[in-house]
Parts: sequence; C-alpha cells; structure tokens
Amino acid sequence: MRSAKDFFRPLAVGAPAPLTEIPARPSRAIHFFDPSNPKMAAKVPDMVGTVDVLLGNLEDAVKADNKAAAREGLVRIAKETDFGATQLWTRVNSLDSPWGLDDLTTLVTEIGDVLDVVMVPKVEGAEDIHYVDRLLAQLEAKAGLTRPVLVHAILETARGVANVEEICAASPRMQGISLGPADLAADRRMKTTRVGGGHPGYLVRQDPADGSAEAIESPSRAVYQQDLWHYTISRMVDACVMNGIYPYYGPFGDIADVVACEDQFRNAFLLGCVGAWSLHPKQVAIASRVFSPTADDVAHARRVVAAFEEMGGDGTGAVMLDGKMEDDASLKQCLVMVRLADQLAE
Ligand code: GLV
Ligand code: MG
Repeated sequence: MRSAKDFFRPLAVGAPAPLTEIPARPSRAIHFFDPSNPKMAAKVPDMVGTVDVLLGNLEDAVKADNKAAAREGLVRIAKETDFGATQLWTRVNSLDSPWGLDDLTTLVTEIGDVLDVVMVPKVEGAEDIHYVDRLLAQLEAKAGLTRPVLVHAILETARGVANVEEICAASPRMQGISLGPADLAADRRMKTTRVGGGHPGYLVRQDPADGSAEAIESPSRAVYQQDLWHYTISRMVDACVMNGIYPYYGPFGDIADVVACEDQFRNAFLLGCVGAWSLHPKQVAIASRVFSPTADDVAHARRVVAAFEEMGGDGTGAVMLDGKMEDDASLKQCLVMVRLADQLAE
C-alpha cells in the first residue's frame, strides 16, 4: 500500500540523518472552493494547473442546508475535470457531525480514484485518525481502489494540540497537519476574533529609557507585534518532522490584507511549514511564492553544497565562505533548501 512516506526521498550528500522533505508533489497553496457555490465551482477547471492543490470544502462556511449539494457538487466536478498535476483534496465535516460519515462514504465510493487527500477537521487524538483509517480501508476495498486516500488533520482544539504527536503517528496514511487558528482560538478561549494572522494587542514594547513617567509614557518607545501562532506552529512542525509528514499554516481570513497574509505565511515557511490555505485566488500567488525558497537563498545553499563537494569529502569538516564558517550542520540546512528547490522545479 502506498503511504505518505512514499512522498519522501532520501538525502544523498554526506548521508546525514533523514530529514523531512516536501512532497514530491508540491502543496504550497491549498485553494479552498465551495462545491455548492455555482460561481466558485465554475472557476475550478480554469484553476487547474495554476495551483498545487484544489480543495472542495464541505465543512465550515458551507451552510447546513447546502451540505448535500456541496458533496454532490464535488462528486460532479471531480468526475468532469481532468486535474492533471493539480491535486484534488476535500475537507469533510467533523466526525461528530451529522454529515462526516456520508461525506467519507460518498466521496471514496464515487471519486476515490481521483481524490488525493481527505482533510479531517477538529481531530483531537489518535482515535479519530484510527476511525478514519479503518473506514477508508473498508470503502477502498469495496470500491476496488488500489491507491489509498491519504489523511490530513486540522489542529484546531486544545486537546488536538496536546495530542499532536500521537495524531501524526496514528496511520501511514497521514500526509500532514494544518493549523486551524480560528477554531483553535475559540477552543482555547483566546481573545481574538480574527481568522488567523496577528493581533495589534499581542506585542512587546521596548524598555523605557529610565523609570520616569515621561520615559514610560513616551510615544517613541518601539512596539513590536508578535506572532500569536508561534508556539503551535513550532510544536506542530516538530511532531510532523518526527513522523515524516508535512506541516501547513491554515487560513488567513483578512483577504484584503495581502501584506500581513504574506508575513504570516513567511513566518510559517521559515518555521518549517510547506504550505498554507488559500481562501481567495489572490492568496494562491502569495502562498506559491512564499513557500518556494528565494533564488538568492538557493544560490547560497548551492555554493555551500558545492564547496563541500569540492572538498571531496563525506560532508564532514568545515569551510569558510564569505567570512562565515559552514560545517556539517549548515550543509544539512543548505541541502533542505536545495532539495526543496529541485523538487519544486520538477
Ligand atoms: C480552520 O478551519 C480554522 O478553524 O482556522
Ligand atoms: Mg476550523
């Protein structure tokens, strides 16, 4: 059976310890569409080839009255569209909802041959993944499918975060995990009403010049807004790397604020994520750009790799480049960058 692990290929140079790599099929932008919305559904064929992943959303943002229409719409679109190199994912309704079982049963039975990944919301522990895994196995067997459908969990409850390591390890079908900042904020009783992104109240302030009231109240004290999601993203990345699966930032709800969206996506990229959700076509371009390493970073990484190759060694030792020391560890960092660039270029 193919597993998520088949997306990985070993690093070649210097035979370092295995590192997580992005899927051979990139998933920088996961573009959400509502299959029950005729305008959005009509745009799907035109988006094929312009985005790494198209995701038919059946869960939140689809009205209860439209759940069946969304499921049927996705089946119709999947049957009528040639997705080429673009992956087809879905987000099903949660496992405790009245729709989750029908979503999985219908989609695997009808379009399991073209469905790459099922995103499961509000996953709280390994038991949720075990349930989906066994159900998928039955449905695949019944439908005569030879290619397993992979599973992606959304991390959006406090309990899910507490159990993220066991969730990542729960099945060889696990492809990755996305941060779900909106539901997570509500579940944690955070005091933000935004869908992802930062908050102007979450900040640190430069120390006052002295203890005087003037210095404390001085408007010139620098203020730095912080990333509300740093802890969860880092924890999620570690759990994913431990299990050889892929971490993603989720939604950025302020569609108009393309600048802050890019900042949030870049933070996630720098922390180890391989992609993010797109809720509007303009976020596709942002995610595709941000989750691809820059030409300068790749050029530098290739110089370091070449310098080690010139030493004719096994990746051990150290070289000086532009006055900076590069050693086994920086070689591994550079290999992550080079491998990512090579895979995206394929
Ligand atoms: C996504 O589903 C979220 O809750 O942020
Ligand atoms: Mg959610």
